[in-house]
Amino acid sequence: MKVALMGLGNVGRNLLRILDEEENRISQACGSAIEIISASDSSGTALFRQPIRPKDLLNAKVKGSFPTGFTEGSIDDVLEMKPDAIIDMSPATKDGNRELGIYLKAIKHGSHIITANKSPLALHWKEIMDEARLNDISILHEATVAGGVPIFNFVKFSCGPSSIITFHGIVSLTANYVLNLMAKGIDFKYAVKKAQEMGIAEADYTDDTSGLDAARKSVILANALYNRNYTLKDIKYSGIEQLSPDDIMEHGKKMRLVTDLKMVNGKFELFSGFRTLQDEDFCLTIGETSLGYELVTNNSGTLRLYSTHDGPRETASAVVNDIMILARSIQR
Ligand SMILES: NC(=O)c1ccc[n+]([C@@H]2O[C@H](COP(=O)([O-])OP(=O)(O)OC[C@H]3O[C@@H](n4cnc5c(N)ncnc54)[C@H](OP(=O)(O)O)[C@@H]3O)[C@@H](O)[C@H]2O)c1
Repeated sequence: MKVALMGLGNVGRNLLRILDEEENRISQACGSAIEIISASDSSGTALFRQPIRPKDLLNAKVKGSFPTGFTEGSIDDVLEMKPDAIIDMSPATKDGNRELGIYLKAIKHGSHIITANKSPLALHWKEIMDEARLNDISILHEATVAGGVPIFNFVKFSCGPSSIITFHGIVSLTANYVLNLMAKGIDFKYAVKKAQEMGIAEADYTDDTSGLDAARKSVILANALYNRNYTLKDIKYSGIEQLSPDDIMEHGKKMRLVTDLKMVNGKFELFSGFRTLQDEDFCLTIGETSLGYELVTNNSGTLRLYSTHDGPRETASAVVNDIMILARSIQR
């Protein structure tokens, strides 16, 4: 299984660590080895004539460059090498157009897409999914929502006969972490800095604190779980910046940035923003470095799933799991 990596930051480097440490488990489960044929970062794209070992790529990247012996190329050159999948772990762009252009080209070339990047799916869902269906291409996006906590594969493979009546959850780690710290009286800037040090928050954290990151995830959830074709334009959202320090001190212990999706009398409703929760609300049991959700279904009962800790390693694990699912389906 040949893969082209886009993005070698917190998630990308953890993916390389997992591919290295779990090489035998992964290739045995997939029936084939995972071969990295190219890697891109903000400096450009490196093409590898021979597949590069994850450890060698990681060691070179940690030192600040690509390993020696690569050829510089473009996305077109990558696609000419016929990767089975493009693995997108690059930063979200505001309009999703950079990623959209790459995905459409990849689909035309017969490459599947695995992504942790929310922007293209939150802004161009219909176009990407229509094109993928037409060309019999898979778009796997488990890591786009709730980090390492499975949602899309869980619903698809374990709740097959059920409809999702409601989704209620915390899906944005940075916002959850920063708000929890602020409710303890910690200053906003210090809380963000801590989140960055832990690899939770990106360098530009404003997408998280404005609520945009959670809104992107809410759109993807609506589209994937409720068969919508929403984009960010269809929803209103709020973030930490809308809260005053007094609000946070007064209600912070019970206030969470939540996503709520539900069907009410045949009408679909979506909420992405702050709510002061009731004492018994499941989301109040989710810790400051955790993510999770409650699903009410018609046939599979009420299900609650959460991580006790989440971060880039868990997100990378979700990406690797999607690679393994794809590898098995290609083998078949
Ligand atoms: N961190 C998490 O826990 C988490 C959870 C869920 C989803 N995500 C999503 O996963 C993606 C990666 O997150 P991250 O935390 O790893 O971000 P990050 O640490 O900021 O890393 C981003 C990586 O992308 C590279 N890059 C920048 N522009 C690029 C371009 N045009 N083409 C290809 N690569 C480019 C960067 O290059 P340089 O190395 O040269 O800077 C860097 O290697 C984001 O879309 C994020 O929203 C992250």
